[in-house]
Amino acid sequence: MAEFNLPANSKVRAGKTFAAPAGARRVRAFQIYRWNPDNGENPRTDSYEIDLDACGPMVLDALIKIKNEVDPTLTFRRSCREGICGSCAMNIDGTNTLACLKPIDEVKGPVRIYPLPHMPVVKDLVPDLTRAYAQLRSIEPWLQADTPPPPDAERLQSPEERRKLDGLWECILCFCCTTSCPSYWWNGDRYLGPAVLLAAYRWISDSRDEAAGGRLDALQDPFKLYRCHTIMNCTQTCPKGLNPAKAIGEIKQLLLEREV
Ligand code: SF4
Ligand code: SF4
Ligand code: FES
Repeated sequence: MAEFNLPANSKVRAGKTFAAPAGARRVRAFQIYRWNPDNGENPRTDSYEIDLDACGPMVLDALIKIKNEVDPTLTFRRSCREGICGSCAMNIDGTNTLACLKPIDEVKGPVRIYPLPHMPVVKDLVPDLTRAYAQLRSIEPWLQADTPPPPDAERLQSPEERRKLDGLWECILCFCCTTSCPSYWWNGDRYLGPAVLLAAYRWISDSRDEAAGGRLDALQDPFKLYRCHTIMNCTQTCPKGLNPAKAIGEIKQLLLEREV
């Protein structure tokens, strides 16, 4: 049987422990992946004991408390703290999700936090999303229409046309889905992944857009689209309750209908 081992410099080592303050009564450990590209050291997990009686209820509250009060070197992304910006996506307790929407109480035992999987790491909990954003740009996620809009008016949609965008427009591009997709792990250089394909389907479905044919042409590719094997990790992990696997299925269906 083949054996696979991490290269020695990738092995995650046990790091430092930061003990809870004296007198803390409701203590929870946060075990957090740390990696600094500047010091040449292996990644490690540091453990921070936090008094939950002096902390907000969400995992992001604990991360902010750690950074502000315990260890300012901890690096992570966040902005809105209400599930809108998508920047606090990370792997918590084994699942990709948004730290600002994840209640600490939903995790039993130590809270284990890692960056989104299978992406290069910039530092600590910050993944490098350069490739994912380049893939997003490649599907041209903006309205394309040769017909000019009516003078002094917006391009209108019927309520029925607008409803077709529900379940698509809500995507916040957190990439929790893409980084949970085994097909993307192995073929992320050529497979666009669920977040980008859901964005593509959002524009294909928009009654105001006139480029659906060209958008479908661009997706008719054995790697960009057809690496999806309906494993459904993407849909299970989406913190906004969206269904990228269904959107991918709808694109495949449209391509099939074009051929008959
Ligand atoms: S359904 Fe497709 S996109 Fe979603 S996890 Fe599975 S292979 Fe990836
Ligand atoms: S579909 Fe869901 S998990 Fe994927 S990027 Fe959009 S909001 Fe995030
Ligand atoms: S901080 Fe914006 S989604 Fe979590």
